[in-house]
Amino acid sequence: MRRAVCPGSFDPITNGHLDIIERASGFFDEIIVAVGINQSKNRLFEPAERVEMIQEAVASLGNIKVDTFQGLIVEFCKAHQVQAIVKGLRAVSDFDYELQMAHMNRSLAGVDTLFMPAAPHYSFLSSSLVKEVATYGGDVSGLVPESVLRRLQERLSG
Ligand code: PNS
Repeated sequence: MRRAVCPGSFDPITNGHLDIIERASGFFDEIIVAVGINQSKNRLFEPAERVEMIQEAVASLGNIKVDTFQGLIVEFCKAHQVQAIVKGLRAVSDFDYELQMAHMNRSLAGVDTLFMPAAPHYSFLSSSLVKEVATYGGDVSGLVPESVLRRLQERLSG
C-alpha cells in the first residue's frame, strides 16, 4: 500500500492545508494527516479538537486517516509504514526550512519528502494569520473549513 503522511500543527487546519491533503490523496492509497503535539508551543485548540476539525473537513474523502504524533515524524512513519512525507509550499520562503527538514528526515530514516505547491489563492494563508484575523473580528470564511469556522467563532466569542 502506498501511504503518505501530511504532518503539521493544524492549529487549526485551513483550506490551504485541505487543498494539499486532497490533491495528495489522489497519488496515494492512503494519507495520514498527523497532528504534531508539541508541548512548548502556545496553541488555541487542544490536539483532540484539531483532530476532530480535520476529521470533519476530510469526511467526504475516502482514503484519509487522522492521527496525532509526538516526537520525530520519522518515528511515526516507521510505526505506520509510511513511505513519504507530503508538504505544501506557499512561497520560496517556506522552501529553505522545509528543505532542511526533508534532508534531515531522509538522513535519519530514509523517508522522502514530496513538495506540492500551494494553490496560488491560498499562498498567503496560515493558521496563525487566520487566528489573528478571527481574533479581531475579521471574516475568515472561505479560508477555513466550516468545522473550523464554527469552533473559531465559539472559542473567540467565549
Ligand atoms: O504546521 P507546522 O507547525 O509547520 O508543522 C511542523 C511539523 C510538526 C510538521 C514539524 O515541526 C515536525 O515534523 N515536527 C516533528 C518533530 C521532528 O520530526 N523534527 C525534526 C524534523 S527534521
